[in-house]
Amino acid sequence: MTQAILLVGGQGTRLRPLTISTPKPMLPVAGFPCTEHQIARAREAGIDRIVLGTSYRAEVFEDYFSTRDLGVEIVYAVETEPLGTGGAIRNAAQYLTCDPDEPVVIFNGDVLTGLDIDGLVSKWRTAHADVALYLTRVADPRAFGLVPTDSDGQVIAFTEKPTTPEEIVTDQINAGCYVFRRSVIDRIPAGRVVSVERETFPELLDTNANVIGVVDDGYWLDLGNPLAFAQGSRDLVRGLAPTPLLSGRTGEAVIDSSAQVDPSASIIGGSYIGANVVIGAHAVIDGSIVYDGARLESHSHVSDSIIGVNAFVGSGCVITQAVIAEDVHLGSRNEILAGVRIFPNAQIADSTIRFSSDR
Ligand code: GTP
Repeated sequence: MTQAILLVGGQGTRLRPLTISTPKPMLPVAGFPCTEHQIARAREAGIDRIVLGTSYRAEVFEDYFSTRDLGVEIVYAVETEPLGTGGAIRNAAQYLTCDPDEPVVIFNGDVLTGLDIDGLVSKWRTAHADVALYLTRVADPRAFGLVPTDSDGQVIAFTEKPTTPEEIVTDQINAGCYVFRRSVIDRIPAGRVVSVERETFPELLDTNANVIGVVDDGYWLDLGNPLAFAQGSRDLVRGLAPTPLLSGRTGEAVIDSSAQVDPSASIIGGSYIGANVVIGAHAVIDGSIVYDGARLESHSHVSDSIIGVNAFVGSGCVITQAVIAEDVHLGSRNEILAGVRIFPNAQIADSTIRFSSDR
């Protein structure tokens, strides 16, 4: 059996205001925290012990997972001060029980993937690698860490977030999952901030370690910003992103059994509707997440957006590619367009925000 570390201690600043009260990996996507989807997939791949490297709002993880049996042993490695990705891996390793030559699978806590986890471990084994990195290809790699490989799959460089055209030497990026030989983790400096991307990986190359890249062209999505987050949820709901947690329930929408949806409303495009949500007549919810306890009045039209816990959306509102945080009260006939984020508890009167005269 293989052991794993899941990195879930980041602040999730790009997802604010949703991450003010809930850490990003614990925000539900298609009804379950991203962390829970990842644990379920790891379990399917035969992983039986997972160390969660927590820091920001660490208590939220323990409160949630202590009430669930996911068939995996979960251990918490809490950082009182965030140690960065490499420091977190080093800190979590004290809770591993495997031998120095055994593989440890490490996951970033905010990516959805269809990665063949077992396959990555097998390739690590066959190559006698120190580290195997899961790579994916993207059209625009500028926001990511580039990882070019040679014809044998050996990693030749790490370039974090390239800025000049000369730096963009490949479309292969670090997809946020690695297999480390346990003894390699033990060489990361302890007790200080370390970035695995900027410090550990370049150092491994400098010391001629055996670092291989494994390109997997299956499903991959970084849930870092609100648009991607809503997309991840709808891909899970539609069954495009694999998760054992929704088996048999995927389709145009997943609607919690306690939600009250008016028969004339349309819930489409991979939307997720949470517990105790109320949706009024002729509302259209398309490709969106509506969190628990929210209420959307008649003729509201929500697309590619996230509606927070207990938010109220008045009749005739149009919300497109936006975030309405928890406990917001949005009066009738407001129009909230792309990129807008309304912070928790905001009170917006009727017809206050409008962008066109024809609605
Ligand atoms: P942004 O602030 O929006 O960039 O998000 P983030 O804080 O999650 O940072 P990033 O996406 O770069 O982090 C990648 C993964 O590493 C995420 O799963 C984070 O939770 C995790 N992570 C980042 N920094 C730390 C840390 O200091 N400690 C731990 N335990 N995990 C971390």
